[in-house]
Parts: sequence; structure tokens; C-alpha cells
Amino acid sequence: MKIELEKLRLIGLTGSTTSTTEAPLILLEGEEADVREEEVVVVDNRGSLIFAVCRQGLGINENLRVGGYSPGVAYVRSTGKPPSTAKESYHFILSFIGVFTDEGLKTNDSIVAPGSPVYLFRGSGVNPFDYLKPSECVMGGYLASAKKKGEEWQIPFDKTFIPYHIGVFGATGSGKSRLARHVLIPLLKKAGYGVLVLDWEGVDYTPFFKQESISICDFRMDAYAAADFVVRSADYFGYDNEEKPVPQAVIHVMSRDMGDGEKWWDKISINAKNGGELREKLRVEVLERLKKRDTKNQYMAIWEFKFESGLEKIMDEDWELLYRFASGKTSVEDFKLPSQGEVCVIDMSEVSDELKLSFFSKLCSKILSTMQKLRDKKLRLALIIDEAPQYCPFEPRGLRVKTTEQIKNLCALGRKRELCVVLLAQGMAGEIGINAAVRRNLNTLFIGQIHPLDLEEAGKRLAPYGIKPEKLLYLNPGEFYFTGKINPLPTPLLISFKID
Ligand SMILES: Nc1ncnc2c1ncn2[C@@H]1O[C@H](COP(=O)(O)OP(=O)(O)OP(=O)(O)O)[C@@H](O)[C@H]1O
Ligand SMILES: [Mg+2]
Repeated sequence: MKIELEKLRLIGLTGSTTSTTEAPLILLEGEEADVREEEVVVVDNRGSLIFAVCRQGLGINENLRVGGYSPGVAYVRSTGKPPSTAKESYHFILSFIGVFTDEGLKTNDSIVAPGSPVYLFRGSGVNPFDYLKPSECVMGGYLASAKKKGEEWQIPFDKTFIPYHIGVFGATGSGKSRLARHVLIPLLKKAGYGVLVLDWEGVDYTPFFKQESISICDFRMDAYAAADFVVRSADYFGYDNEEKPVPQAVIHVMSRDMGDGEKWWDKISINAKNGGELREKLRVEVLERLKKRDTKNQYMAIWEFKFESGLEKIMDEDWELLYRFASGKTSVEDFKLPSQGEVCVIDMSEVSDELKLSFFSKLCSKILSTMQKLRDKKLRLALIIDEAPQYCPFEPRGLRVKTTEQIKNLCALGRKRELCVVLLAQGMAGEIGINAAVRRNLNTLFIGQIHPLDLEEAGKRLAPYGIKPEKLLYLNPGEFYFTGKINPLPTPLLISFKID
């Protein structure tokens, strides 16, 4: 495939000082009004063609240099008009993508000659990605700098590196969930992955995947988790932990073996018709058990009081919820993970954070054990975790210690078994971010408009390519820098996508 330079527009020449990875681009007069940052261009370096991205635009006028006296500055002060533009110039720093050869794109290792002509792709009808995409890729989104109709050049995504995991970062409203919905989910499906989405609040995905959604309440809960739910909702029945007689009695009753391998809890959906009946059955049996335990009848009055006032704290909706959990159709263990090309959204909105996390922890165990049983086969599953700091925060406590560890394990084993973990978070590092040990596993990143606290972390990933971290504070919603191995190009690309 040959690049027809005559179809492209000459926008300038490379200036001094050039290297093998970057070169300044001096714009032809007037081009500064049209050429934008993040445009894709090609440099004709003595016949070899080098693809590059325009970054770090600067406009200079010697007459207007500030910080000291100059006739030009004095002229501005006295007349209020700009002086001659003869000493004015505009330039970008070109960050090289690679040199185009007969065998495809290669890393550039020759020094670019200053004075080499530079051509712009936009407006030419020639799509630079036709030359840049690898053979094994899926296409999605488009280059943010080419927004003109008919020129929305789709970005290539290298399938091979999907199991090296993905992070999406951006402050609230930067478009992370939309990116997942409009770009990542279709892309992962096209790449042959089943996609399982965890919708923490039930607003970002569930309404858009109605047919493919399942509520967390439709999963059957096991006896211990259910007993734990009752005990916690009752504030431990006035004690400071569950090791006390009343909570113990509740746990004992609910997890009691009924003789046929099934527990009291497993049969409650047959023995009771609704949440109210469930509560009454539990009340009778717990009181009976407490009575039996208090052989000398010393404590029964206080236990009964604590038990009854604990029950009062559990709202009617919670009993109904619990009843739903008892009669759930699937257990996490039996849940069929979405197979290649399928999407499944789990709506986690109806329950407390603790229940969400304990459900998630069971789901992780299930995925981990499924992977361990696979031997040489591949799982080909993508797990999209929106609001990731809820699962693996900077400094995990309580249940989150376990879920953080599990996510780490999913990442580690996932690389071999083709499980892709996608984490979406408002912050990258520090208190607003996700756990550092988890973050280290995310090879490909989408970085949108970030919080100023994250400038340093984002800078580490983008500054080496000439992207000023401050630029990240000004990105529009839906614009993300795409960097890491799934990006087949060595330099990050600013991408965007269309929303309905
Ligand atoms: N590609 C896009 N083009 C135009 N607008 C967009 C685009 N993507 C997102 N937006 C706008 O940004 C808003 C926020 O998007 P979204 O809910 O995905 O953000 P978020 O980063 O997930 O926020 P949060 O962290 O609060 O969940 C949307 O309401 C939408 O209007
Ligand atoms: Mg969101």
C-alpha cells in the first residue's frame, strides 16, 4: 500500500532540533488557524514516510517577548496595536508514531532532516489508520481531532492485549460509563469476549441493556450471608459483635440443617409466603432456641427484649428483600457466565453496599474457580467494574480487603486464561484512586478529564509523549487519551466517540 502524498495538504516543514522520536513542525503561514493539536500528519524524511501526532503547540513573536524592554512591547503599550508579524512563527512538536515500510509500521530510528515537508491527513479523504492498523485488530471510537462528517476515523484496538486489563479514569462527568457503553462493550464483544458488567447504582447500564440485565436480588443468597444480613440490619441486636447469644441464635436457626442436607434458610421460601411470614417463623424459632439455652431462666427477659428491639430495626422492605433472596432463581455458583459475544449486566442497586460486596466476592470466587478448572482453555470474559474504588479502594477496610485481593488475583490469573478486568474510577492514585497493587495490573488506560490531584499520576503515563498533564484538565466529556498495549501505536491517541 502506497501513501499518495499528493492527496494530502502540505502544512509546514520540520525545524531544528530533530531527533528519532520527535521534531518541531514550523507551520506555513495561515495554517496555525486550521491545524490543531492531536492531528495526525506524515513527515517526508528524504523519501521515508514517518507518521506523527502534533503536540505542544506554540506561537512566538520576537517583537512581543515579555519580561523585559523591547521596542515591540513599547509599541503595543503606546498604540494598543500589535507590531509587525514578520518575526512571528507557530510550531508544534511532532511525536512520532513510526516509519511506514513495505512490511508495515516500524519504530523510526533515523534522524529526521530539518526542513522535511509535513503533510496533514484531515480533509484529504485518506485515512491514516488504513496504514497504521495491525492485522489482528478491532475498530471502535474515532480520533478526536477528526470530527468532520465522513472523516470519523475509527481507532484500531489490538485484540491480543485485551487480557492485560483496562483502566478508565476521569473525574465525575468525564464520560467513563459512556465510553464503556459505547466503545468498550461493543469492542470486547467484537473481539470475541463475553461481557459481564457490574452496575453499582443500576443507572449507567441496566436501563440500556434491559433484556440482558439481572438484579442482584434474583440471585439466591446462602444461609450464612442471609443470617449475616439479618444480624447486621438489626445492629447486632444491641451487642457489639455477632458472637453474643442473640445474634448466635439467629445464625444458628437460619443455618440449621433440616436433616436432608438442606438448611432452614433453603426451605423458607416453601415454608413462608412473604417477608412478614419469614420474620414470624424466625421469631418463633429464635425465641425457642434462646429459651432452651437459658436453663436457669436468668437471662431470657433481657435476651427477648434485645431480640425484639433488634427485629424492630429491620424494615418491612428488608424482610421482603430477604424473601426475594431466599426464592432467587439462580445461585452465584450456578450462574452461567456470558459466553463469547454476549453481554450480561448485574443491577446491584437494590441492596446495601455490604451485600453488594459480599455478592461480588462470591462472584469473584466463582470466576476464579472457573478459570482454575479450565486448564488449557480460555475463558474469554470481560468483567466491567464501574465505580471501582467501591471494590478496591486506595486503603481497603472490612469486606473490601477481601475484594481488593480477589480483583488482584483475577488480574493475575486472567492474563493466562483471557479474562479482561476493566476498572472505571474517578481517581487514579492516592485517596481518590484505586488500590495501587490493583492499578499496577492495568496495562491499557483511557484517561479523560482528571481531577487536579491526579496530575502527577497521569503525567507519568503521558508526559513522555509530549502530552502536558495540564491538558488533561481541559478535555471535553467523552475525550480520552488511549495508551498502553491495546493501542497498536507507540504514542497515546486522543479518542472520542458518539453518544445517542
Ligand atoms: N462522547 C461524548 N460526547 C458528548 N458528550 C458526552 C460524551 N460522553 C459523555 N458525554 C457527556 O458526559 C456526561 C457524563 O457521562 P458519564 O455518565 O459517562 O460520566 P462518568 O465519567 O461515568 O461520571 P461518573 O463518574 O459520575 O459516573 C453525559 O451526560 C454526557 O452528556
Ligand atoms: Mg459513571
